[in-house]
Amino acid sequence: MTDRSLALHPPDARLLDGRRALVTGGDSGIGQAVCFELAAHGAAVAINYVGSPEEAQTMVGEIENAGGKALAVAMDVASESDVQRAFAAAGEAFGGVDLLVNNAGVEHPYELLDMPLEAWQKVIDVNLTGAFLCAREAARAMRDQKSPGTIVNISSVHEQIAWERFSHYCASKGGMKLFAQSIAKELAPLGIRVVSVAPGAIDTPINKSVLEDAKESATVLAEVPLGRWGHVSDIARAVAWLASEQASYVTGATLFIDGGMTLYPRFV
Ligand code: BGC
Repeated sequence: MTDRSLALHPPDARLLDGRRALVTGGDSGIGQAVCFELAAHGAAVAINYVGSPEEAQTMVGEIENAGGKALAVAMDVASESDVQRAFAAAGEAFGGVDLLVNNAGVEHPYELLDMPLEAWQKVIDVNLTGAFLCAREAARAMRDQKSPGTIVNISSVHEQIAWERFSHYCASKGGMKLFAQSIAKELAPLGIRVVSVAPGAIDTPINKSVLEDAKESATVLAEVPLGRWGHVSDIARAVAWLASEQASYVTGATLFIDGGMTLYPRFV
């Protein structure tokens, strides 16, 4: 991306000064916007990528040029050893980690009748097991540091809405919902809050093929009372607020950011 320019928010508007974040899948889509927004609010940000490091490294440069602090970290969220290594690297660079954004996610449609085990497994591994491994590592770090912190999960409207051809994805997001609520109870005594953000239809690379098909895009819009696709900034701003002290009484909750999709507009 070249049409972006990052400026940190003015000091008195920063919600996350001194915080140390790790964002999974931070080099594209919602994750990328979240990295920039957290950095603009004063947080040091570890930008996770899997595969090519280029985009994450470019983002690090942009954040540093704006006066922020960032680091690119390689990790497959479904690999226990990768997760341990990435958290150790972020902890070493920033002196700890007190904010995790579980954003990494994949989706690929299959009807149940045709779904190969590998397709099921991949979605569950990245979306759900990845969230578990990262949450466990983050919670351990926060406990050891004796510093309160926040875990923000990027869930989906599909933690609530069934979706044909995406039963694996819905299983992962439905699983994430009760996983998040359960650990929110467990971690509350440690001062760790766990919250979820549930995006609806957002203009991101994951939706590229739908956005490029006028008919398919219109079908999605018919399900959105506010009548537009969401922007990544709609999600990123909410993540920054939920992670901040302003949301210190919020835990175990899901904030739907979906233009009203969960109001089932086609159900009359
Ligand atoms: C999916 C998108 C989809 C949206 C609404 C999201 O979780 O990632 O592909 O457009 O839900 O169905």
